[in-house]
Amino acid sequence: MELWHIRGGRKLDGACFVQGSKNASLPIIAASIICPMRSELMNVPQLRDVDAALRILRHLGCSAEQGGGDVYIDSSGLSGSAIPHSLMEEMRSSVIFMGALIARCGEARLSLPGGCQLGKRPIDLHLSALRQMGADIEEDGGEIFCRASKLRGAEILLPFPSVGATENIMLAACTAKGETVIRGAAREPEIVALQGYLRSMGAQVQGAGSGTVVISGLRPEKQAVCRIIPDRIVAATIACAAAAAGGQVELRGVDPEQFSTVLHFLNQAGCDIISTNRSVRLFSDGKLQGVGELSTAPYPGFPTDAQPVLMAALLKAQGRTVITETIFENRYRQVPELRRLGADISVSGRVAEIWGVECLHGTALTATDLRGGAAMIVAGLASQGETVICDDGHVTRGYERFDMRLRSLGADIYLEY
Ligand code: UD1
Repeated sequence: MELWHIRGGRKLDGACFVQGSKNASLPIIAASIICPMRSELMNVPQLRDVDAALRILRHLGCSAEQGGGDVYIDSSGLSGSAIPHSLMEEMRSSVIFMGALIARCGEARLSLPGGCQLGKRPIDLHLSALRQMGADIEEDGGEIFCRASKLRGAEILLPFPSVGATENIMLAACTAKGETVIRGAAREPEIVALQGYLRSMGAQVQGAGSGTVVISGLRPEKQAVCRIIPDRIVAATIACAAAAAGGQVELRGVDPEQFSTVLHFLNQAGCDIISTNRSVRLFSDGKLQGVGELSTAPYPGFPTDAQPVLMAALLKAQGRTVITETIFENRYRQVPELRRLGADISVSGRVAEIWGVECLHGTALTATDLRGGAAMIVAGLASQGETVICDDGHVTRGYERFDMRLRSLGADIYLEY
């Protein structure tokens, strides 16, 4: 169990770099096995989920080492196509190994993935797409056995731009016979990052970032090299923390475009924001306004992952904010905990209504999930007195040395293991 100790009321001040993206790293690590190859990945965050992905690689017979932000993978020794439940359950992104294994071995045996409990997280779109490409898939309880002597390219229409399904199809399609066209593809920056890595492996992929991605084969290079993009959700979290606590913060090495919807609402709330193409400076006097209505949506809409942290930033904002969560059905698990700080939030189905309060008072909280836990840290920084968050390892799954990063900005926070 980890304990986050936060003494709120200090303004944040200073500049920091933002870690590499977890959600870009994990699919890229899975993709490293689609053909026998060495890969060098840079700016990979040191996180439990990354560690879990590297353990899956080793279980499959690959070599995989992380030293600081560098990860070296050699997938030439891959000798298995089955991933045990104990490894699958560690994170949601383990499901992307399905597309990677079927691309490399023509089969994959795995179980339903783990990850945060945000409501139903089906993988029917992933399975249906692989079936359209000729895979034979048996499901037995939570076990999945997927087989195809040779996948064939297909035109796949996704009824919803699922990030995971888009990634799985991209990987499977690299070694399929013929061209695959994904229509209704997810447009997230992590999809563009995956395309960049696949191209450096020798894959012919184009269109990532638009709704149509075309994959037409792979002529393997000797080695793939890739620098992981900055984590837009961590950047959004630090921006929300500075907005709530007040202060002046510069986020360096980020692409403001990738979290522009979050910056838009922070600006609406009263923060001054100056963006260049590689940095964001945010000024907040800590006295925010409610932002009215906002809904989460697939990229380029407002990210569901940033919803809990923006909610936390607006708990003291004068007036009303109404959030509609459209991606996950159970993404307000942080709300009962935030109320314990004195927040005025009511939830009805997918809609949460927040009325800003004068003051929040630190108390003992329990982290419910990764971004919910981050939201409690943001709220704790804007509360009077001490907040202690009891966390069963949720936040450290996605935030690298987050206590140190916030301390470097002047926050009074430390993590006790
Ligand atoms: C989602 C987020 C992604 C975020 C990640 C981690 C979106 C669109 N996706 O990606 O930005 O980084 O969580 O928190 O915001 N669905 C199905 N069937 C499927 C797959 C998905 O019905 O086969 C539904 C889900 O129930 C959910 C929605 O589609 O309502 C989001 O799915 P998806 O994008 O696939 O989720 P992740 O890949 O986990």
